[in-house]
Amino acid sequence: TTEQNVLFTIFGGTGDLAKRKLYPSLYRLYKKGIIKEQFAVIGTARREWTDDHYREIIIETIKDLIVSEEDAIEFASHFYYQSHNVNDSEHYVSLKVLAEKLEARYHIKGNRLHYLAMSPDFFGTITQQLNEQGLVSDTGFNRLIIEKPFGHDYETANILNEQIREVFDENQIFRIDHYLGKEMVQNISTVRFANNMIESMWNNRYIDNIQITLSEALGVEERGGYYDKSGALRDMVQNHILQVVSLLAMEPPAKLSDIDIRNEKIKALRAVRVFTPEEVKENFVRAQYDVGSNDDILLNKYQNELNVAEDSLTETFVAGKILIDTFRWKGVPFYIRTGKRLSEKGTQINIVFKNVPLNLFSEDAEEKLPSNVLTIFIQPTEGISLQINTKKTGIDLETETFDLMHQHSAETLANSPEAYEKLIFDCLNGDATNFTHWDEVASSWRFVDAIRKVWDQDKTNLPSYPSGSMGPAESDALLAKDGFYWYWNPISPDENEK
Ligand code: BG6
Repeated sequence: TTEQNVLFTIFGGTGDLAKRKLYPSLYRLYKKGIIKEQFAVIGTARREWTDDHYREIIIETIKDLIVSEEDAIEFASHFYYQSHNVNDSEHYVSLKVLAEKLEARYHIKGNRLHYLAMSPDFFGTITQQLNEQGLVSDTGFNRLIIEKPFGHDYETANILNEQIREVFDENQIFRIDHYLGKEMVQNISTVRFANNMIESMWNNRYIDNIQITLSEALGVEERGGYYDKSGALRDMVQNHILQVVSLLAMEPPAKLSDIDIRNEKIKALRAVRVFTPEEVKENFVRAQYDVGSNDDILLNKYQNELNVAEDSLTETFVAGKILIDTFRWKGVPFYIRTGKRLSEKGTQINIVFKNVPLNLFSEDAEEKLPSNVLTIFIQPTEGISLQINTKKTGIDLETETFDLMHQHSAETLANSPEAYEKLIFDCLNGDATNFTHWDEVASSWRFVDAIRKVWDQDKTNLPSYPSGSMGPAESDALLAKDGFYWYWNPISPDENEK
């Protein structure tokens, strides 16, 4: 790891994301020596803060990671604050003066990373102003990291993209999907392409169906205002879930370079069938959380949450069937589900293999043996397991299913990079593998828009599910129609340690 020289400008520097994710990630990179002496951070937002106050906040956000107080103070001394109204061009002029001063002070050679961690409504204005007021340097690299949501639908995403593309080229734009920074999401390609046994079976001849569950125990908490206009489909499916689908479905890339991988992901997403209204009704269900309980704690219904409309028709749960029209995947459903206020927080991918052609272990040769299931545990457990049928010890010939499990240890977990740390690191290296290309965003929105269109026209009440459950009956019925059921590998870290 060589030290990078770079000036970060963080728009939305006082925000929740900056405090929870960005500053701790920068500190982790600092501790690893990736940024060390030749870096500075300008935080900007509306609020009037002094540099001193800003630095106190920075130290507060990294307090759990600090090795020594001097070290934290030294780190925070690289941070500068400037109050900023994004619509006022004068502010960009002073931003430029500050940027040049800091580049001279810290020997930064024109490398600029502009991080937009605020409402996308302002992205167009900011990029335009960065250009017009000369904040795009002409000596080093200029890169733009943009947070989600990237648009509200295809049309708004396209407008946003065009505005940004007036100033930055596609290879300078790093659209964040933090799921792509997760260790086990990155592991999907390794599990597939480093194992002949797995890759050779990775198709419709051997795989019955693929299931992806992103389950959350929390409700919308303080984000009702945003969430009520978004809903689970836009919040989780358009980005995180479709990104995971593309990694599972893509063809092997020629090389593991960002360009090769992106091309394969784009091809996979283009092959995702955009549903007709009839297909939407057949293949997708939505629901909203009702009162319920988890661990004996009583929970509110969604419509009573802060900043949520009392008669809201926003979905907090989605389950659906995604079909990919390629040679490899024809006939293999990708079932996906995600929701808030479910029974536990956990993300896992289950690859359910086809059954053996004949059951030799039962008098009824048609009776199904348990399927082989490959589980990729994304979080909080990180690991991989394979369900395999074996002989049960004893005189009778009976079968028994075992779980061959490998799980990252607590120590590995503690030392593994945070998603944001990894993504900022990649961006500093100009590696766009784990960011989303515009063509991926466009295909994802087209798929999502077709579903939204049907839902937006339907003003009847949504099905509900009790808070603390695994979703509505409609979700189970969706799979039952095809003769399947949701597979959930129950192994939790605690159980496995015993
Ligand atoms: C975000 C969504 O993108 O992802 C949130 O906006 C969601 O609603 C979050 O809670 C989930 O991320 P993670 O990393 O906690 O699984």
